[in-house]
Amino acid sequence: MYKFPAFSGFNNQLMEKGKVSFIDRSKPVIEIKNLKKSFGDYEVLRGIDLEVYQSENVVVLGRSGTGKSVLIKIISGLLAPDSGTVTVLGQDVNSLNPKELEQLRLKIGFSFQNSALYDSMTVRGNLEFPLVRNQRHLSKAEVNEQVESVLDAVGLSQTINQMPSELSGGQRKRIGIARTLILKPEIMLYDEPTAGLDPITCLEINHLINEVQQRYQTSSIIITHDLTCAKATGDRVAMLLDGKFMRTGTFEEVFNTDDERVKTFYTYNFIQ
Ligand SMILES: Nc1ncnc2c1ncn2[C@@H]1O[C@H](COP(=O)(O)OP(=O)(O)O)[C@@H](O)[C@H]1O
Ligand SMILES: [Mg+2]
Repeated sequence: MYKFPAFSGFNNQLMEKGKVSFIDRSKPVIEIKNLKKSFGDYEVLRGIDLEVYQSENVVVLGRSGTGKSVLIKIISGLLAPDSGTVTVLGQDVNSLNPKELEQLRLKIGFSFQNSALYDSMTVRGNLEFPLVRNQRHLSKAEVNEQVESVLDAVGLSQTINQMPSELSGGQRKRIGIARTLILKPEIMLYDEPTAGLDPITCLEINHLINEVQQRYQTSSIIITHDLTCAKATGDRVAMLLDGKFMRTGTFEEVFNTDDERVKTFYTYNFIQ
């Protein structure tokens, strides 16, 4: 039986030393070429190129309304692009039939902006839900074991019988991530994972994102305008401006520029 490694807590070595990533650049898991998407007259994405490699965290930065959520909806096949190609785990997302798309989606974990847990279910119920639905062959004991294991992985074993309304914002976010991890995704898509959380909780979430990457070798796209989160989690950062990635590189590379628009973004979003 697969065991989720334990969440090593907030004040561990990784936190102090910064993160160490083992990215396999011979294996792109997401490849996007010349992707375009408009809504009516509004060209949201105007030619996006991006590769995400095995075990890499790529942060997509950009102001509100620049098309970040649209981008990850296209990657997961929830929205169709107007043109361009999106290849995920070797498959062209837009040529898949519904059954194939469903299979592919099981390998992609989402952490949505308002990671909606089912309010009427306990934490246990919320975590069982994706397993019972997608892995019908599991016995009750196996489901229990996986639920307990993934809760341990996000450091929230004690909340198993609580209702979502009894949890803090940060705990809800972590349970949302656990609910996604329980299907052992190869790719994680985080949409504004730290939005609306207090600074300490943000650090915990950044840390959890890095732990997920390092323990499960997942590849992730992290959408955010929180530069502390971008700096802490991103092996590479891509800055979306006017429908294109205008700068891509390490956090330092992206912000080491005289471009006024990048400098303004930095000034208004970097609150340490
Ligand atoms: N389904 C849709 N229909 C029409 N317009 C949309 C749709 N989804 C997103 N948009 C528009 O596309 C733009 C980018 O949206 P979004 O990707 O959500 O931005 P953000 O970068 O804040 O995540 C916004 O102007 C939004 O109104
Ligand atoms: Mg968004």
